[in-house]
Amino acid sequence: MKDVKGKVAFITGAASGMGLGMARAFGAAGMKVMLSDIEDTTLQAQVADLKAKGYDVAGVQVDVTKEEALHNAAKKTIETFGKVHVLCNNAGVGVGGKSETCDMRNWRWCVDVNLWGVVYGLQAFMPLIRSHGEEGHVMATASMAGMYGVRNLGPYNAAKFAVVGMMETMMAENRNSNIGVSVLCPGAVATNIGSSTRNRQQEYGGAAVPSDLDISNEALAQGLHPDVVGKQVLEAILKNQPYIFTDPNMRKMVESRFRKILSGYDWADSCDALAGAKQGSLQRK
Ligand SMILES: NC(=O)c1ccc[n+]([C@@H]2O[C@H](COP(=O)([O-])OP(=O)(O)OC[C@H]3O[C@@H](n4cnc5c(N)ncnc54)[C@H](O)[C@@H]3O)[C@@H](O)[C@H]2O)c1
Repeated sequence: MKDVKGKVAFITGAASGMGLGMARAFGAAGMKVMLSDIEDTTLQAQVADLKAKGYDVAGVQVDVTKEEALHNAAKKTIETFGKVHVLCNNAGVGVGGKSETCDMRNWRWCVDVNLWGVVYGLQAFMPLIRSHGEEGHVMATASMAGMYGVRNLGPYNAAKFAVVGMMETMMAENRNSNIGVSVLCPGAVATNIGSSTRNRQQEYGGAAVPSDLDISNEALAQGLHPDVVGKQVLEAILKNQPYIFTDPNMRKMVESRFRKILSGYDWADSCDALAGAKQGSLQRK
């Protein structure tokens, strides 16, 4: 987008951390912002704080695991601001554990919030962003755990890789449109993700089931300030930057993964089973 002033953004997980950082950056840039979160008390307090700063904002409680809730939030956004231009599918929960042993309530909670929440957001908001013909942007918060496999983060890796893949598909599908697409892959950011169980729904075991995340709150507190990430997301929207990385030191992890992937092709070149085999490429219908 070349200009965001007066444009409308909808953000999930906006009562805390990076979502709140985005709301602050967007508000300061003159955007109208609909903040949403499962945690209503904190959400209302943050909305009041932003209003006191003179920003044009409103709030709506949304549990992103509920498809209907995203559609209701979309309706409320249009009722409040008339249009919507920017979608930030940001809500997420930190869940640790190995794929083979992770408590199934944690597995489902992780995928329902971190993956299905993004799908529901896209389905509820993209038709509205396309409907007015003006410039728009869609962003989803994945993670560096969507860029390479991390020990003890099986379900989280699975959900975040899926979000990266989905947003890459969105990039391909929107290449020739006036809708930009970005995926945010943060490294460590000083947010409340280490306390994600604080608002885990009863159907996933409530707050009592441990999240098994083995990253300490002390370590997270050393991370980047979430307001910096908010400003970075705004800049990415204005420059239509597809991949948003927050920690340049983690570049080597991505390079290492791609080296390993490409070595699979080196192996294929010398693989006995493929030698001389007839092979067509996949054609689109
Ligand atoms: N903090 C990090 O180091 C880090 C690193 C990589 C990726 N991320 C991702 O960043 C995103 C934002 O998290 P954060 O770090 O700001 O954490 P945070 O806990 O400070 O903020 C996340 C927000 O999402 C909300 N939320 C949780 N479940 C929800 C649900 N079902 N419906 C709606 N809202 C819900 C929470 O109430 C909270 O306000 C997440 O997608 C997370 O996976 C965080």
